[in-house]
Amino acid sequence: MELYKEVFENNKKWVNARKAEDAHFFEDLAQGQSPEILYIGCSDSRVTIEEMTGVKPGQMFVHRNIANLVPNNDNSSAAVVEYAVAYLNVKHIVVCGHYNCGGIKAAMQPQDLGILNPWLRNIRDVYRLHKSTLASITNDEERYRKLVEVNVEEQCINIIKMAVVQKHYLERGYPTVHGWVFDIQSGKLIDLRINFLKKLRGIQEIYDLGTTQQVK
Ligand code: CO
Repeated sequence: MELYKEVFENNKKWVNARKAEDAHFFEDLAQGQSPEILYIGCSDSRVTIEEMTGVKPGQMFVHRNIANLVPNNDNSSAAVVEYAVAYLNVKHIVVCGHYNCGGIKAAMQPQDLGILNPWLRNIRDVYRLHKSTLASITNDEERYRKLVEVNVEEQCINIIKMAVVQKHYLERGYPTVHGWVFDIQSGKLIDLRINFLKKLRGIQEIYDLGTTQQVK
């Protein structure tokens, strides 16, 4: 069977399985969502976050784009963060990159990719910020892996720059921002252990948006 047709068959099985577990599953789901996590990841078809983490419908608000970017002028990701923080009150924001990311590799190729150029330029900007570290890595594969990691870090910083994040963190103590990488080769999720408070303090030196108080 064609995959396109198979998905509808699979959906029927899924509906039946959920109802068998819990007769009110869909009625309850329709009542609303209160996800604890906002996840921003890559569109790559291999990075299936709900499946690999076991989160259930309603638990994770998800945004995906090429190379998990949160650029300054991108209305889509900005609206997702604003909504998730101010209205859904998420406790955690995760940016998740992955090794073997086609977007990251494409960004570093000397070629004209049309409308992808301005999008991928964000990754070249990350490279420029971390040029000395990246240039010191002679192995190509290792350098790409490092670029995946520092790209996640910079997108976390882009999120911390946002007024809605600073304001809500200072008022309520959340959300905090985390950087993860999915290692396709092993299937494992890696926490980059980004120091949220340290980043926030650093950012407030320059990107203080008057959100009432400085973090101590
Ligand atoms: Co990717």
